[in-house]
Amino acid sequence: METRMIHISSPADYPLLDEAARCVRGGGLAAIPTETVYGLAGNALDEQAAARIYAAKGRPQDNPLIVHIADFPQWDPLVVEVPESARRLAEAFWPGPLTIILKKSALVPDATSGGLDTVAVRMPANPVAREMIQRCGTPLAAPSANTSGRPSPTRAEHVREDLGGKIDYIIDAGPCEVGVESTVVTLADGIPRVLRPGGITPDQIRSVSGVCEVDPAVYEKLREGEKAASPGMKYRHYAPRARISILSGSLNSFIAYVNTHADEEGAYALCFDGEGERLAVPFIEYGAQSDSLSQARRLFDALRELDERGARRVYARMPSEDGVGLAVYNRLMRAAAFEVMELEA
Ligand code: TXA
Ligand code: MG
Repeated sequence: METRMIHISSPADYPLLDEAARCVRGGGLAAIPTETVYGLAGNALDEQAAARIYAAKGRPQDNPLIVHIADFPQWDPLVVEVPESARRLAEAFWPGPLTIILKKSALVPDATSGGLDTVAVRMPANPVAREMIQRCGTPLAAPSANTSGRPSPTRAEHVREDLGGKIDYIIDAGPCEVGVESTVVTLADGIPRVLRPGGITPDQIRSVSGVCEVDPAVYEKLREGEKAASPGMKYRHYAPRARISILSGSLNSFIAYVNTHADEEGAYALCFDGEGERLAVPFIEYGAQSDSLSQARRLFDALRELDERGARRVYARMPSEDGVGLAVYNRLMRAAAFEVMELEA
């Protein structure tokens, strides 16, 4: 299959989307830009389109897809009911990087919801994404547009690396602003509970809802036999081919440790901006230490770059868990398969 690229640099280019929208309406797949990461979009109400999405990504079929909408009226038919608590959160953070889980209606096929009785919905902030949904005339199911298990794509080029030849279109609107996927919050049991941290923080949710729980799986590996609240959490994720260890401790202890491992084959450091020059191993910097937003924007790109450069053994600086840092921490922990080393301060 030939994958066509469409470049959008301003609203004047929006009519170029029609060709891809027509294809998606007919059951095809198009990768679309969102403010978080690129998504692989198909008609959310079409079982066969959902099946194609799973196939293109090589994704396990019990891992449900997020349904993307362009405006509020598209939400109601997808769910049994929009409770007041959900409405308030949506009004505060949509369009934006927040996904809300509620009981699904019969309109949403089991293939889209991975067989669950709930559905995850979000209204993306990226105007090209909303324009595309509108031109398709239907909500779009869109998981991250990477091969399952690879780092999520923050640029159209990443999508092409993973899915070129397997999907109909890639819509390129430049790099993603947030760089990590949306916050997933469930309201299926009443109280908001974060299943995956992202661009909207638990504190931001608390400021609207009064309360917000954070699922333990955000911080820790699931124990043997434990059931995942979000099926996505049980899979190894975001992983480059190299083995990654996260080193917790001061910059000086990091430098000392890494420099004694300079002879190791394929050794690389994943560090903060400006730190690389003191290292005796090749390095990739992933944002400023004091700026979690910049780390979020860089992380997945940095993980892909490690692969391209042939890194085998990666020593990474520990990110802060504050604010959006929790999302960075969560993704890096998964990429490292939860391997953390405590260095002396
Ligand atoms: O920012 C994002 O959310 C991106 C862009 C493209 O919008 N999409 C994305 O989709 O990250 P995906 O499929 O890669 O991740 C969806 C996550 C998975 O961990 C999945 O298990 C969880 O959301 N999820 C989806 N529906 C769910 C549901 N009904 N119950 C629990 N977890 C759900
Ligand atoms: Mg994903």
